[in-house]
Amino acid sequence: MTTLEVRGLTKTFHKITAVDDVSFTLAPGRTVALVGESGSGKSTIARMIARLVRPTSGEIVLTGPDGEPVPRRGYRDHVQMIFQDPFASLNPFHTVEHHLARPLRLHGRSRSDVPRLLEKVSLTADFARRRPHELSGGQRQRVAIARALAPGAKVIIADEPVSMLDVSIRLGVLKLLARLQREENLAVLYITHDLATARHFSDEVLVMHRGRIVERGSSDDVLVRPQDPYTRRLAAAAPDPEARFRQGGQS
Ligand SMILES: Nc1ncnc2c1ncn2[C@@H]1O[C@H](COP(=O)(O)OP(=O)(O)OP(=O)(O)O)[C@@H](O)[C@H]1O
Ligand SMILES: [Mg+2]
Repeated sequence: MTTLEVRGLTKTFHKITAVDDVSFTLAPGRTVALVGESGSGKSTIARMIARLVRPTSGEIVLTGPDGEPVPRRGYRDHVQMIFQDPFASLNPFHTVEHHLARPLRLHGRSRSDVPRLLEKVSLTADFARRRPHELSGGQRQRVAIARALAPGAKVIIADEPVSMLDVSIRLGVLKLLARLQREENLAVLYITHDLATARHFSDEVLVMHRGRIVERGSSDDVLVRPQDPYTRRLAAAAPDPEARFRQGGQS
């Protein structure tokens, strides 16, 4: 059981407090959705967890199966990001196999695991020799997900993982993430503007407004029966989620 706990996380850029005293826990087999308007601090939280941005104050503690904090060196293997733009996150000169073999090798696993990893993200083994420009957006994002799993990640931070994909394939990628979350017992932070998928794919929802969490709870409580005025406005502005799923975004 690998658990990531964020305590009192704060980030100030010059005079702007982008993230203000945020605390939550990511646990195995659970998805936490982080929602809120543009500029509310969601990506800054993701980037601090991914160690791309240093917190101004607060702590991020990763606890391993033995109940002990994971040492700094192991952190990056355990905590992996999936970014919004799969094109930008893959190197155009390298094959899919290269993208996957490198993290496998660094973690003492062999290149022969590549087909198994591809299968996990529902891609056939022949994708290994392709380059990013020979893939669709959805296939690229599947490769990015496979790469996140390659070092044996236990915590996945997905920052708007489908917002740049064609609407017709978004649900397929989210369902893949949900399946992997179950199969691999991953802890997932799902950052999105889309309240419908936040409700559908998460156990808990955190609502951010100006750097603070203004409301949190089970996805139904927060998104169907919001208490906070800001969450109410957010929910009222969103299209009816049930209608979206009735329309069969089943792709
Ligand atoms: N490197 C930086 N330097 C200065 N200010 C920054 C930096 N990164 C983010 N900010 C500011 O921090 C605030 C939060 O930005 P952040 O990207 O976390 O928002 P977000 O919730 O992810 O928004 P979006 O939904 O548009 O992706 C914004 O006011 C932003 O301008
Ligand atoms: Mg963002």
